[in-house]
Amino acid sequence: MDNTQKVKWGIIGAGNIAKKMANALKIVPNCQLCAVASKTTSKARMFADENGVENVYSYQEIVNSREIDVIYVATTHNFHFDNARLALEHGKHVLIEKSFTVNAKEARELVRIAREKNLFLMEAIWTRFLPSMKMLKNKITNHEIGDVKQFNISFGGFVGTEYEKRLKDPALAGGVTLDMGIYPISFVCYLLGELPTDIKSMTRFSDLGVDEISNYMFRFPSGCLTNICTSYNLKMTNEAIIYGTKGFITFPQFSTGQQFTIYKHEGTNDIKDTIEVLENNHDNGFIYQVEEVARCIQEGKLESKIIPLNETIGIMEVMDKMRGEWGFSYPFE
Ligand SMILES: NC(=O)c1ccc[n+]([C@@H]2O[C@H](COP(=O)([O-])OP(=O)(O)OC[C@H]3O[C@@H](n4cnc5c(N)ncnc54)[C@H](OP(=O)(O)O)[C@@H]3O)[C@@H](O)[C@H]2O)c1
Repeated sequence: MDNTQKVKWGIIGAGNIAKKMANALKIVPNCQLCAVASKTTSKARMFADENGVENVYSYQEIVNSREIDVIYVATTHNFHFDNARLALEHGKHVLIEKSFTVNAKEARELVRIAREKNLFLMEAIWTRFLPSMKMLKNKITNHEIGDVKQFNISFGGFVGTEYEKRLKDPALAGGVTLDMGIYPISFVCYLLGELPTDIKSMTRFSDLGVDEISNYMFRFPSGCLTNICTSYNLKMTNEAIIYGTKGFITFPQFSTGQQFTIYKHEGTNDIKDTIEVLENNHDNGFIYQVEEVARCIQEGKLESKIIPLNETIGIMEVMDKMRGEWGFSYPFE
């Protein structure tokens, strides 16, 4: 596909997050949202009317459509595997909402199919593409705080009513780890450029049997340690603090913040320099991942360097390991 042609998108799942994506697709000039599919036609029709989408399809019709290049899977976690497999098997490139799948087995199978069919596939960890996140990664890579040794992150809040059902329901693969924990886990892996080798964790289950408060401690091959806590029913500070041998960075409003502060020292307790960094993100931060998907498809790339598929699988393995230790599997697993 050359870069004069628009990348044509279809969405599977006419829910909350699909609206934000529909809005992003209106903003990115070389993309066009052509169709939405839902299990409930009336829901898809209403979505199409509200978001100016021309075609309303069933899942089968959307993957059969010759017009569409890429499918955005915007259903609940339990459906990601089936929806993405259907799209890949019908020759569509695919962007899947986080968490990519429910477990690593499903993730490996999707990656296998995409590679076999030479199709683009990516997990929609949109925060990795934000300008503020790129700037932060740059500062870490340039050793502005020396060698990174420790992350402390909290990421939690009372879940909004529109997300409550999905997050609390084991049948929809709810729970805080797949839904929110994925962000800090992905964040540390991205900034360090590696996956953890030692994994310790603890959780507290909700009455309905999903993890509602989860704590993760990782050790990475570089020696860096992490302390992450996450919850869908506690208001947390939502801050990441990254400690290095020559300073530390405080990053409030994890993980979409635009501003962070670098405190520099020379290996002592005296702060020598404090630098405020501000990097503006667009109001609809999805546009950056949309641009990445379009660029990759137009250039014939099968995965993004920002979130490679082997890393996505590795992160699913980390979450599998922790859930295994908690004795937590979903009813359909
Ligand atoms: N990137 C972000 O900032 C962000 C934010 C929120 C959510 N997400 C992710 O986006 C995905 C969808 O979340 P959402 O809040 O948009 O979900 P949602 O609105 O609750 O549901 C999305 C779609 O999933 C299907 N679905 C939901 N509940 C179902 C049920 N009980 N039975 C059968 N099908 C059901 C429906 O598909 P049909 O229309 O086909 O029936 C629905 O339209 C998840 O992977 C979530 O983690 C990402």
